Amino acid sequence: MNEYLKTDPWKLVEERFDPLRVESSESLFALGNGVMGGRANFEEHYSGPSLQGNYIGAVYYPDKTRVGWWKNGYPEYFAKVLNAAFWIGVDVAIDGERLDLARVEVLDFYREMDMRRSVLTRRMRVRMAGGAEVAVEAVRFLSLERRELGVVRYAVTPLDRTAEIEFSPYIDADVRNTDANYDEKFWEEVATDGDVVRSRTKKSGFEAAWAQAVTLDGARFRCTTEPEKVRHTAVVRCEAGRTATLCKYAGICSSLNHAPDELADAARAVAADGLAAGFDALLREQEEAWARRWHGCDIVIEGDDEAQQGIRFCIFMLLQTYTGVDTRLNIGPKGFTGEKYGGVTYWDTEAYCLPFYLATAGAEVARELLVYRYDQLDKAIENAAKLGFRDGAALYPMVTINGEECHNEWEITFEEIHRNGAIAYAVFNYVRYTGDEEYLAECGLEVLLSIARFWAQRITWSEARGQYVMLGVTGPNEYENNVNNNWYTSYIACWCLRYAAEAAAWVRENRPADYARICAKRGFDEGAETARWQRIVEKMYLGEDRERGIFLQQDGYLDKEQVLVADLDPAERPINQKWSWDRILRSCFIKQADVLQGIYLFQEDFDLETIRRNFRFYEARTLHESSLSPCVHAILAAKIGDMEKAYELYLRTARLDLDDYNREVEEGCHVTSMAGSWLSVVEGFGGMRVKEGVLTFAPHLPEAWRSLAFKVNYRGRVLTVKCTREAVEVACEGEPVEVEIAGVRYCVDRELRVEN
Ligand code: BGC
Repeated sequence: MNEYLKTDPWKLVEERFDPLRVESSESLFALGNGVMGGRANFEEHYSGPSLQGNYIGAVYYPDKTRVGWWKNGYPEYFAKVLNAAFWIGVDVAIDGERLDLARVEVLDFYREMDMRRSVLTRRMRVRMAGGAEVAVEAVRFLSLERRELGVVRYAVTPLDRTAEIEFSPYIDADVRNTDANYDEKFWEEVATDGDVVRSRTKKSGFEAAWAQAVTLDGARFRCTTEPEKVRHTAVVRCEAGRTATLCKYAGICSSLNHAPDELADAARAVAADGLAAGFDALLREQEEAWARRWHGCDIVIEGDDEAQQGIRFCIFMLLQTYTGVDTRLNIGPKGFTGEKYGGVTYWDTEAYCLPFYLATAGAEVARELLVYRYDQLDKAIENAAKLGFRDGAALYPMVTINGEECHNEWEITFEEIHRNGAIAYAVFNYVRYTGDEEYLAECGLEVLLSIARFWAQRITWSEARGQYVMLGVTGPNEYENNVNNNWYTSYIACWCLRYAAEAAAWVRENRPADYARICAKRGFDEGAETARWQRIVEKMYLGEDRERGIFLQQDGYLDKEQVLVADLDPAERPINQKWSWDRILRSCFIKQADVLQGIYLFQEDFDLETIRRNFRFYEARTLHESSLSPCVHAILAAKIGDMEKAYELYLRTARLDLDDYNREVEEGCHVTSMAGSWLSVVEGFGGMRVKEGVLTFAPHLPEAWRSLAFKVNYRGRVLTVKCTREAVEVACEGEPVEVEIAGVRYCVDRELRVEN
């Protein structure tokens, strides 16, 4: 438990200024509105250590790859959503002395992120070197309603004397990424003109414009420009106890949404409209927009304040990162909270985030995530072709922003191919949850058949075994590379082949015109291709150890020395920092859910005893050194009734960043794994699954919780499910719905209560 942040159900609260925590708080208090976001840097100048970060989703730079031994098939560049102009800047000087928290005496400091409305507030009292005491209140938000608008209100009150206060709000586009591979600057200036800065990304050619409109109690501003900077300056004389309040409205527009020659005017118009609406009206608009967002996705946990704050923080961060308004956007592992992972797309989206958006934001938003991959299908086919695959086989990249592969470690780029399975599974998951089978005809089938073609070429016929095998892969457990017959990869490959065949049959029978179009466009010969898929599925080798009753993670896993995590000296962990790579590869320790990832996705295929045996075996060997891991184990632990373990694993995921378990939160928050935390509450403790089109619940509450209530959006309705030790209650807004609770089906008209 982090003693530094206060536990509060709806807020993150920091009550003192700790220069050593500035960077971690910059990550935790980050703001986002789904299309852009930024770290919680201070508005005023700060000369202490800080990681400046403001990001515009999908505006990226192709940073030339840096690699030791180049391998054919490696990508030329790593696309990163780059650090963009510092739009929040407000320089402040009191009687000529610049306000800088690293230089003044901080008497009081309070910062809160109000998660209910996504508003960041900071209040502080400082003593300047010259002796003047001043109070400051800075309030900032990124408008959810006006997606190109950022707002700052910055108020200064001299406390002990009349003071001359200079406010100098500015926008600075002269920014860099700290992770640039060749120390390059990624932006170049197009023009700086009055109140607007315009810049262009080198190579990728995105343009963006930032404009500011400012007010300060009627004071007149002087506008000055320098290369890549605009600044307004005004000086006010303020008596002790009187407050001078600056409001700044920033328009942030990019060529994703505007023609380059219209960008400056667009940014100016956004800022001017913000100013015309005024701070208070914009704040009310923000509160209403966020209230609508929370309706339909809140989770209430009674009896455990830390768990409550933890899960709200996860939901809040996910809502800030992605809203489904643009199919070019996706969810980077760190969202808008830092540079790490470059803001680009991993399998995290399909395997972890999609179910969250499906159940909280609804079908349309989740569909955008699927369409993102559909739009990149041709690139995935090109990517597979570069690696030697033919005939329309698709291998989606491990890391991408525009459909091209960006990852350049061979064991992951070429071998961690299970990502293709997650992308196919997401189509299935979406159709299962929404009932929208039309999606198969519109987009889904093309993706599925191209993925199936990949698997059908990626397997090898083993004469020795008389079976198909899958050679040279890396499973989700990245602590083993180039293994043969990774159970998870082979299992999901077989599943893809079966599901693609089912989807083809559905489209042929129900949407003949789409079927004909797809066959022509993709050269699909259903009879011949699905017959081969079927043969592969029947003859695929899937490793098992019958004596132990477990699925075998990969060939040779049991040859390794079988040491358990419990036997490992805690001082040796995390092993990825303490051990040589060679030692890691030879050990039996598992980085993250692997066999159990498969058992989680395909729970219905296995009986409880099989799940229990595999869970016991693999959990004892899993280090959870990826943040994506404990949530999957937590769900399975709850399923087999091991509530103590489920709760222990849940705590590792839900407050991972708040409590900074991994001592790295200053780099950014683990946004995609936050979706995993949501999964462990709703699917783990709530036991939610969709079976045959019916939403089912099998709640298991942790000891510490009096009750758990969660909301889900299901086929156009909002359901509130409340689980206590005595009963399960379901309230339904919208059409009556059938649900299953502990194996029994009920129709919920408005409200239902089922005693345990
Ligand atoms: C995990 C991957 C994940 C990536 C980004 C890695 O540490 O092993 O499964 O996709 O982080 O979150």
